[in-house]
Amino acid sequence: MSTDPNKKSLTRVTCAQHVTAYLRAEVEALGFEIQDEDIAGVHIGATLVDCLKLNLTLHTAQHVLWQLTKFRCPTPKALYTQVAAYAWEELIPNDSYVSITSNVDNPKITNSLYPTRVMKDAIVDRIAEKTGARPDSGPDKAKIVVHLYWKGDRAWVYLNTTGQWLADRGYRKLPHHAPMRETLAAAVLLAAGYDGTTPLVNPMCGAGTLAIEAALIASGRAPGLLRSNYSFMHTLIDLDEPWAAARRDAHSSNKKDAPPPIIATDHDPTAIDAARRNARVAGVEQLIEFVECDFADTPIPDGPGHVILNPAYGERMGEKEQLAVDYERIGDFFKQSCAGYRGHVFTGSRELSKKIGLKTSRRQPFMNAQIECRLLSYELYTGTTS
Ligand SMILES: C[S@@+](CC[C@H](N)C(=O)[O-])C[C@H]1O[C@@H](n2cnc3c(N)ncnc32)[C@H](O)[C@@H]1O
Repeated sequence: MSTDPNKKSLTRVTCAQHVTAYLRAEVEALGFEIQDEDIAGVHIGATLVDCLKLNLTLHTAQHVLWQLTKFRCPTPKALYTQVAAYAWEELIPNDSYVSITSNVDNPKITNSLYPTRVMKDAIVDRIAEKTGARPDSGPDKAKIVVHLYWKGDRAWVYLNTTGQWLADRGYRKLPHHAPMRETLAAAVLLAAGYDGTTPLVNPMCGAGTLAIEAALIASGRAPGLLRSNYSFMHTLIDLDEPWAAARRDAHSSNKKDAPPPIIATDHDPTAIDAARRNARVAGVEQLIEFVECDFADTPIPDGPGHVILNPAYGERMGEKEQLAVDYERIGDFFKQSCAGYRGHVFTGSRELSKKIGLKTSRRQPFMNAQIECRLLSYELYTGTTS
């Protein structure tokens, strides 16, 4: 068995829970046929060279896992034997570093670390036997990452072509308070119906994640261009040429015309400073108008467009009382200032969301870390009432 980068292989593209529909649309738009999907990802047929493009261009993906081998795996012994049968010495340099991740669904395996260790041993033993030296291994995802999926008596082994997840775009140098994960912000914008052709207004912008992700979508910039390190770069497979070509292609998708206005506001000057600096690192500062103001004073360009807020949904007493007032004011702001827009609030508090006092047109579930959240959407017609 050897690793041919042009061989089509079943590839799993993962995402956060509840994001599959948006990931699916993105993957299909790139011309791939979805073979299967579940709550946290899709399966497609793709070459390793295709994986470079997927890493570069997808806004909502977390990891791109390219299948290396699959086998019957009733026991840990079978896992060792089958993994050791793969030509790892053709994929992983013996002076490199490998990290193993796993997802095990087998009632006989109660310690999830055990298969990871068996797999690591099988890989490094094989490389040592064939080359005389063994790579280091551990939890660091900065170099080669291999993923095991073991379900019942079947196992699938993937090269995680991404390494550290794609949410780490690399632009958020200043996180400010409670920032959204970059890939979640992109999914929330797509769920809101934002496609970059109408204005996007983001009061309470914090570190600017929603506005920056909107600017990436609207200007056709590939988010993966912002990163310089991927797991596939550390393999023995020479991907320099296809990587340069994929980057050229990604650059050529940049739109020439300036997108409709993107406005980000916050009453905290340190938030505006952080958001502006993050946008600069992401290369989109010039596409976003930053204003320091109370959210209710946010300038609203002529619609239609989207206005989206991610207010805090804190748990501490006192804080909740102030937040209840803020949520009520969001409802007033929508009614008084945003006619002709679609309004959206991303929140983890059902109780606070009731204070907005408007009828939702859509409620979409998301997970933000471990917290179940909702994107609440409102049609703000002229004369909208509660
Ligand atoms: C949960 S954070 C937003 C995080 C943001 N989505 C991100 O990814 O960085 C909420 C933000 O609302 C801002 N904020 C709270 N009350 C405000 C108000 N009355 N007017 C404007 N901004 C406000 C805070 O300063 C904070 O930056």
